[in-house]
Amino acid sequence: MAIGKLQAKEIRLASRPQGEPSAENFELATVDLPELQPGQVLVRNAFFSVDPYMRGRMNEGKSYVPPFAVGKVLDGAAIGQVVQSRDAGFPVSTWVQSLCGWRDYFVAPAEQLREIDANLAPASAYLGVLGATGLTAWVGLNDIASVKEGETIFISGGAGAVGSIACQLAKLRGCRVIASAGSAAKVAFLRNQLKVDHAFNYRESDPMEQLQKAAPDGLHVYFDNTAGPQLEAALYAMRNHGRIVMCGAISGYNTPVPGPRNMALIIIRRLRMEGFIVVDHLHRMPTFLGEMIPALRAGKLLHQETAIQGIEQAPGAFISLLRSGDAHMGKLVIRV
Ligand SMILES: NC(=O)c1ccc[n+]([C@@H]2O[C@H](COP(=O)([O-])OP(=O)(O)OC[C@H]3O[C@@H](n4cnc5c(N)ncnc54)[C@H](OP(=O)(O)O)[C@@H]3O)[C@@H](O)[C@H]2O)c1
Repeated sequence: MAIGKLQAKEIRLASRPQGEPSAENFELATVDLPELQPGQVLVRNAFFSVDPYMRGRMNEGKSYVPPFAVGKVLDGAAIGQVVQSRDAGFPVSTWVQSLCGWRDYFVAPAEQLREIDANLAPASAYLGVLGATGLTAWVGLNDIASVKEGETIFISGGAGAVGSIACQLAKLRGCRVIASAGSAAKVAFLRNQLKVDHAFNYRESDPMEQLQKAAPDGLHVYFDNTAGPQLEAALYAMRNHGRIVMCGAISGYNTPVPGPRNMALIIIRRLRMEGFIVVDHLHRMPTFLGEMIPALRAGKLLHQETAIQGIEQAPGAFISLLRSGDAHMGKLVIRV
């Protein structure tokens, strides 16, 4: 931002991707920011979130959130600091959470912002373990699956943002945790840092064989981040009355993949499969933070993130998020 000129950089959707997104689908633009009106603040983003669900919003068509418009700035969760203020409740230096990611500066009415306490945890943790990502893992385990001590749970995408928190929370609940990931480094992270009971590389071994080996008595719960072949393998491995939490289906976000061939097992094994969207559960935030902040401060939870420097790196980071591999571990954020 040039002082006096009030300009900001933003990433826009240049065109709708067909299949896997590429750099041409994005453009970096500079825009003039308006003068502050009463009740408004100017925020400098420090971090913004890069999320798989954004891929769906790049397509045309109706979903649970409106599609991104071509030629307009993308958005998503962001953490920043107030640098100019015309609202008494948000003085300069206040750390705030917003949905105005994918830009470096923005002007917004203060009522659209939520103050965060950056003394309690690193600011970026409010995008990961203390943000919607952590809440997704927490709601999926507690409210959708109702996990209980002693149960065996399989978590696909275990080394990712939601998955890495789900693995840790399930361990804290006293579950036996099996987790998968798409690289040797991620499998080592699951074993050595998250201390899951069994971790495997779903690209180099057969998920069905792995689940049979790791859970010979079957799974009580499957926390699904991927759908595709891992969902099919989990269906075979479920115990009677098992619960499947449908959190994400990333294997088909760029290009749809066929559904599982063994859906009849839902009947035969009397399974319950339930999808959820975290924004329907925001009322759980106070209870969630009441548990997570002390656990994080006590060192019982690890906040694993990959921070990529520079707003212009965001499109490449997003493209790599939808691929398997070592590009990131835990929550992916852009450090602005
Ligand atoms: N229901 C909700 O409200 C909600 C909220 C947030 C997120 N989600 C969903 O939860 C899932 C995880 O999101 P996240 O933010 O935590 O992302 P993430 O797991 O940090 O990143 C995505 C990961 O997906 C894996 N992946 C990519 N292509 C894959 C494929 N073809 N098959 C299997 N895995 C693949 C990659 O890990 P590997 O290298 O290990 O393959 C990649 O790192 C996503 O499906 C997302 O849409 C749902």
